[in-house]
This record gives sequence, C-alpha cells and structure tokens, in this order.
Amino acid sequence: MYQYTDFDRQFVQLRAAQYRDQLERWQAGKLSDDEFRPLRLQNGWYVQRYAPMLRIAVPYGELSSAQLRVLACIARDYDAPDAALLADAQSRQDALDTAAGSAPAARLVKGVGHFTTRQNVQFNWIPLDKSADVMDLLASVNMHGIQTSGNCIRNITSDERAGIAVDEIADPRPFCEIIRQWSTLHPEFAFLPRKFKIAVTGALEDRAATHWHDVGLHVVKNDAGETGFRVLVGGGMGRTPVIATTIRDFLPWAEILNYLEAVVRVYNRWGRRDNMYKARIKILVKAEGQRYIDEVEAEYAQILEHDGAPHTITQAELDRVSASFVPPALQCDRKSADSKIAHILRAAAEDDVEFGRWLQQNVAPHKNPDLRAVTLSFKRLGQSPGDATADQLEQAAELAEQYSAGEVRVTHDQNLVLPWVRCDALPELWRAARKAGFARPNIRLLTDMIACPGGDFCALANARSLPIASAITARYQDLDELHDLGEIDLHISGCINSCGHHHSGHIGILGVDKDGKEWYQVTLGGSDGSALSGEPVPGKVVGPSFSAAEVPEVIEALLDTYRQQRQQSGGRSETFIATLRRVGIEPFKTAANSARLERRTAASEADREEHSL
Ligand code: HEM
Ligand code: SF4
Repeated sequence: MYQYTDFDRQFVQLRAAQYRDQLERWQAGKLSDDEFRPLRLQNGWYVQRYAPMLRIAVPYGELSSAQLRVLACIARDYDAPDAALLADAQSRQDALDTAAGSAPAARLVKGVGHFTTRQNVQFNWIPLDKSADVMDLLASVNMHGIQTSGNCIRNITSDERAGIAVDEIADPRPFCEIIRQWSTLHPEFAFLPRKFKIAVTGALEDRAATHWHDVGLHVVKNDAGETGFRVLVGGGMGRTPVIATTIRDFLPWAEILNYLEAVVRVYNRWGRRDNMYKARIKILVKAEGQRYIDEVEAEYAQILEHDGAPHTITQAELDRVSASFVPPALQCDRKSADSKIAHILRAAAEDDVEFGRWLQQNVAPHKNPDLRAVTLSFKRLGQSPGDATADQLEQAAELAEQYSAGEVRVTHDQNLVLPWVRCDALPELWRAARKAGFARPNIRLLTDMIACPGGDFCALANARSLPIASAITARYQDLDELHDLGEIDLHISGCINSCGHHHSGHIGILGVDKDGKEWYQVTLGGSDGSALSGEPVPGKVVGPSFSAAEVPEVIEALLDTYRQQRQQSGGRSETFIATLRRVGIEPFKTAANSARLERRTAASEADREEHSL
C-alpha cells in the first residue's frame, strides 16, 4: 500500500496542530461560532442532528491495520455522547418509531465507525472538545478530514480491487495519489460552486460507480496500445439524477492533471452559484452540453500551449509514485497452493455448503493466481450497513495482519476487502472471519445493502433509513432464500440528497416527508454500472409512497414477483435485474401496490375490531 512520505506526515501533523489552536481560541471565546464553523468544517467536523460528526478520508480506500487500530481506539474512547444527550436522542427516535408503527429499536449506537460509499469513515458522537485529540491520533497514522466537507475536491475514490483486479488495464492508485496531491489545498479550487467528487477505475468492470461522479476516469488503451483515460463529467444523483457524459475518449495519462484543471476551472467559472440545488457540475454539463466541452478543450489547449503545461506528469514522477505502492512480499509455495485450492473446492462442494457459499460470494480472483481478495461482510442482523464497532475494527486489523499483509480496502458497498490473501490460507481465514462475524456469505446479495445514516443521525433527513435496512435484513436471514434470490442491489437514502445511492439500486428506497411524517418512495431498475447491473441508469418510481411498516412487505411482494416471473421463464439463473428488464416494471408495480392495499385493508379491519370491543 501507499508509503506516506515525511512531507505527508508533516503536512497532516501541522494541520492537526493548527486545528488545536483554532479549537482552543473558540473555547476561550476568541473566535465566534460563525468564525470557528468553516475552520472545523474544512477538517471534516460537521454538527449533525444530535452531536458533531467527523468524516475522515480514506484515499482510494486503502487502510493499514495500524490505521484501523487507531479508528478502533477513536470508536472506543471518543465516540461517546454523555448519557443525557443519548437518552434525549433515543426518546426522540422512540417517538418516531411509535408514530411509524414500528417497534422501538436501539440504533443510536455509540462506539462505532461508519464506512461510507465514498471510502470515508464517519463517527457520530465525538464531542467537539475532544476533536483536537482525535485529530492528533489520526495524524499519528497519516489520516485526517481535510476536504471531506465544503465546496472543494473531495476524497479521490477508486475500485476496491485497484492494483489486484484480474480485469485491470493499469493500476489506478498512482494516478489517484497524484490527483490527491494536486487537489489537496489547490488554491484555485477551494470555493467551487459545490462539492466535487472524482472516482478513478483502472479495470474493465466499474466497481467505483464512476458514471455517478462529478468526474469519472477510466484507464483505457488506444489503438496504438498507449495508456490514457476516458474522461466522464457531470454524473450525480440528488433530485436530478444524471449519468456522466464522456467528454474525451482518450487522454494521454501524462496530461490528466492539465485536463482536470481545465474541467474544474470551467466549472468554477460557469457553474451556478445562485441556487445550491443547481450548482453541481451535472447541471452545467446538462445545460451547456457541447459548449461546456468546447470550453474545456479551449482551456486545456491554453494550459498546454500558453501556460507551459505546468502539470504534465513525467514518466519519472509516475515511477516515483508507483514505487510507493509496494506489493507485499508474499511467499507462496505454488505446489502446495495448487493442491490446497483443489482440496478447498472439493471440500466446499462436498462437505460444507456455508464455506462453498463464502468462496462463491466473498472471495474474488486476484491478478496473482496464488492470491485472492476476500470481502469481510459488515452487513449483519442488529447492525447498520457499514457500521463497525471498536472490537470489529480491531478484529479486522488482526485479520489484515495475519492474512493480508496488514492492508484492507473500503468498498463502495460499505464493506472491507482483504486484498492479499493466500489461497492456502482461505480455510483458516474463513474460520477466523466466521468467529469474528465477518463471514456471512451475502456479498452482492439482498442484505448486502447500502444505506445512508438517515434520520437517526443526519440533520437533513426526511426519514430514517436504518430501521428500514434493519427490518429488511431481519426478514431475509435465511441463507437458502437469500442465495435463491441471487444478486440484488438494494440502496436506501433518507432524503433526495441520495447519499445511499437509491437511484442506482436495482431496488431503491428514498425517504420522503409528507405532513411531517416519514414515507418512502420505491424505485426499480437502477444501475451503478457494475457487471451485474449493466449500463448505468436511474431507477423508475413505483407508484405513490409507502409507510415504514409497509416497506418490508412491498419488498417481499417485489421479490415474490421476481420469483414468479423467473419461474415462468423457466430459468433459475436469471437475476432480479435481468428479469426486471425482460418483463418491465408493470408486474412489479402492481404487486407493490396490492401489497400496500392488502396491508391497509387489514389494518383498517383490525382498527374497526379494536373500536367495536
Ligand atoms: C450524516 C451526514 C451527511 C450529510 C449531512 C450529507 C449531506 C449530503 C448532501 C447535502 C449531499 C448532496 C450534495 C448535492 O447534491 O449538492 C450529499 C451527497 C452525497 N453523499 Fe452525503 N451526507 C452525509 C453522509 C453521507 C454518508 C454516510 C454517505 C455514504 C454512505 C454519503 C454519501 C454521499 C454521496 C455518495 C453523495 C453524492 C450523491 C450524488 O451523486 O449527488 N453521505 N450528502
Ligand atoms: S441522503 Fe439525506 S438523510 Fe441520508 S445522509 Fe444524505 S443528506 Fe442525510
């Protein structure tokens, strides 16, 4: 993984020291709340529904076990509200549960880190007076929250299998790192019209949702075999879901910073600042179309010809940065690995269904045939998607140290991947992961869902996401059923800001507010652009909104419809999304609406009986 330099270390430590000084001046009354606010925000310290929220960047998703242990320490020692604050928050949540007709549940857990879809980690309860101590701890392992908030270029994300994927054209991590260095504290891009998110993939399959980003970069080769980038601009979700437009089919890799400079400069100049809801680059690209592309090309030509191409990357610089991504020296006895793999597969097929399922869902091939990438599932009953307790963070660190050269990757789907697992260690790792509760073989299945924090934590929410995630998880615990349903992307957002990527879910759930109550819209047929999902596209809304209590039954009705339709076509192997595309949305829509009708009829009959007693 990336070896941080002395410069990186000093940079992050100085920022932590600077922040401590700002915090202390605020505490002493020398800075007003308004003056302190932008200072804390630019270090990732928000204030949310009940308490401060810290967002920490994990560049291109790479974490060392040492960093995981620091996150565990933060979860254990700092992510703790005082009892009165927690009790107040819990009673407000209980009231919402009662209004929604669902059983009160303790979801306002403290002592956890939350992995997001953009390879960040969030904490929800750290008191601000502890924030400088937390910044120091993070800096001790080269971590920080710089540019995890505000209208600047955010954390550069990538494929969780970057550098190890079998379908990779080139390792995107050195480019991510070069873009990270260019975009960090870039003076021209500190106050863009709105936040700006870049994702890079070097593989054929898009595992980084690049089409849904402000800028998506795909490593490609041209006819001459040279490496470069396809450049996509203007993707995004929110109230106007837009798939990014390809504005360059091939850009030589050496010019990527000069080109990005042009892309962001034109956005900075032309992007709307009068209306926050129209300020993202997707609106500009949609409105201006070819005029935007022409302006970027003109700006790029200007940067190359008149400004002297200041950001051209030399081969020596690429080599220097690439050398910082040292692959671990893993000794693998090839002969023993081969025979062990054969043994593993035999054992899986014959003896242990669970192990077989784990191999199938949680273990992915690797560039190095002796190795595998193993996903640790953070989707389990009783825990919100992406949440990790202090103990779990430590257990993940231990597994990384024992089986993956001390490295993990954060995935877009809110899990962790061990990228360097020897084939012959798979059975042992499986037992250890199972003991720690990470071996649920549900990767890419229904319960491997994405969810944003929603109304349990987020001040912008219309409705809570986590009780919905929890009710669906509870309903689909049977592994036979889950595997029979096959691969399905379920994505949940608590409001139209779309942090839970509901637009790209095969099934999307969106929290909406009606008369101050929590309701949910369901969308069908969305795609993030992965191999399973096909062409990226936003889902289509299924009828009017549903109550929280209705949602699990609606999901059940949708999945039953899928099974019926699949049965009729005679193929058990057809995935949910393939069936949906084959038969269209109508039968699903009808099933969802009749599930709601049945429930409402049953509820009103129960109500009548109650009142007639
Ligand atoms: C609780 C604190 C959070 C707040 C206040 C927040 C706020 C927002 C807002 C306001 C936007 C829309 C920006 C715009 O379109 O102009 C947004 C977008 C986004 N957020 Fe969050 N967010 C939070 C947590 C999260 C989490 C936990 C995740 C991941 C699980 C996440 C992932 C995203 C993503 C991927 C987008 C981009 C959607 C797009 O393409 O337009 N956010 N967030
Ligand atoms: S989608 Fe809405 S509710 Fe969910 S985290 Fe984003 S802003 Fe908050």
